[in-house]
Amino acid sequence: SKNRLDKIVSLSKARGFIFQSSEIYGGLSAVYDYGPLGVELKRKLNQAWWASMTQKHENIVGLDAAILMHPTVWKASGHVDSFSDPMIDDKQSKMRYRADLLIEEHIEKLHQNGKAEHAARVQELLDTSGTRKSLNEDLYDIVMQEEIKGPDSGAFDWTEVRQFNLMFKTQFGATAAGEDSEVYIRPETAQGIFVNFTNALNTTRQQVPFGIAQIGKAFRNEVVARQFVFRMREFEQMEMQYFVKPGTDSEEYERWKKERLDWHKSIGIRPSKLRFHDHPEDKLAHYAKEAVDVQYEFPIGWQEVEGIHNRTDFDLGAHQEFSGKKMEYFDPRTQERYIPYVVETSVGLDRTLLMVLCDAYREEEVPGDKEGTVETRTVLKMHPKLAPVTAGIFPLIKKPELQEVARKIQSELSEDFKVQYDEKGSIGKRYRRLDEAGTPFCITVDFDGLEDQTVTIRDRDSMKQERIPVDKAGEVIRSRMKN
Ligand code: GAP
Repeated sequence: SKNRLDKIVSLSKARGFIFQSSEIYGGLSAVYDYGPLGVELKRKLNQAWWASMTQKHENIVGLDAAILMHPTVWKASGHVDSFSDPMIDDKQSKMRYRADLLIEEHIEKLHQNGKAEHAARVQELLDTSGTRKSLNEDLYDIVMQEEIKGPDSGAFDWTEVRQFNLMFKTQFGATAAGEDSEVYIRPETAQGIFVNFTNALNTTRQQVPFGIAQIGKAFRNEVVARQFVFRMREFEQMEMQYFVKPGTDSEEYERWKKERLDWHKSIGIRPSKLRFHDHPEDKLAHYAKEAVDVQYEFPIGWQEVEGIHNRTDFDLGAHQEFSGKKMEYFDPRTQERYIPYVVETSVGLDRTLLMVLCDAYREEEVPGDKEGTVETRTVLKMHPKLAPVTAGIFPLIKKPELQEVARKIQSELSEDFKVQYDEKGSIGKRYRRLDEAGTPFCITVDFDGLEDQTVTIRDRDSMKQERIPVDKAGEVIRSRMKN
């Protein structure tokens, strides 16, 4: 529920995962900063994806293209003409909304009020109207009239639905402002890959099929910007464009669907919370022949985390036409020449991070410090390989003998892992603090251990402690990280 998301937002702020951008100035809407824990988690996710692409596939190469691109790129790609959302303003409050999302919200309200049949009718209208591709403005007129304006919401005074282009524009160069000096800030990373297709081909020994992977920022002037890092104006994408021979595209599309769903499971997301959602044909983005979302069941409902698209030769074909440069591949084996088709996998890094937090967040009843009491612990049960801090290292109390051993362990483990030394407060409080950070292991040095060179290692999820030889700590952590 919304409540659960609110708790995750509060924890993120309190623990230093995610802050509102420019908070001291009142914040910048839908822009966020990653704090000390958030940045570690984000890097680990980034790394897990990068390795799954460029390390585990010998035919996928990496790229890091610039955010600013030639303006014609966005004409060729169709973004200048088609990358827009239906927007509607409330004349009184001057608030701007995304018409389709407003209606989705309304449908949910109808459901909550037990008007399931009514909700289904509106849903059907919405499903058949299309959003980004071909907005049926009549639908919105009807729905706005009937559903939103309705008798008990007379205060609203809406403008017509208009298409609002999501690309940010800025001035390029030191020349006086003019048409020529305007550039767009990329709304997707994919175009940097398409325009480098021949560069990658000519500088590697790759043959079709092969892929290009990239991680980078993208910017969209989203009309509705809420729901934390789910929908941001500045965000990061992890995209892979797989170039295939026309005719093999549908098969590759199916293969990548499976591979990508498996990746989400591999980072520890509960399979019951993941599903595919096919795009109906009339709702496809302007470039796609087939498209599916990987959805996760967020506290706000099932939502897209990743899009997998069969983009055909739409992009390479368009860039060939607009640039006059050949975007073809010559197959030395069959002597054929063709523009490859593209299967794209596109996942939001921030949205994946939110999914990880939502999936990991638990409140559990556990025995309190005092005999017979119960307290609630908040714990982030995320995959150990993603945890911002892998291990906490604690001397049981502030005694030099214990501190010395703990510092030594810290220095050894920090060669391989991000660890955190902590000697402040009760041991119970220190455990709880790292539970909230998602830290999977805590190593405590106590007096018994000084005798026989052992420490205890506590498991975040079971809270069980085990005694292990002090010089085996790294090994134990390494082997448990794999599970
Ligand atoms: N190149 C294809 C493309 O950009 P998309 O479905 O528009 O496809 C892909 O975006 C992914 O990027 C989404 O599944 C989502 O995870 C992420 N994404 C898109 N817009 C976003 C936003 N405003 N804030 C956060 N993530 C976003």
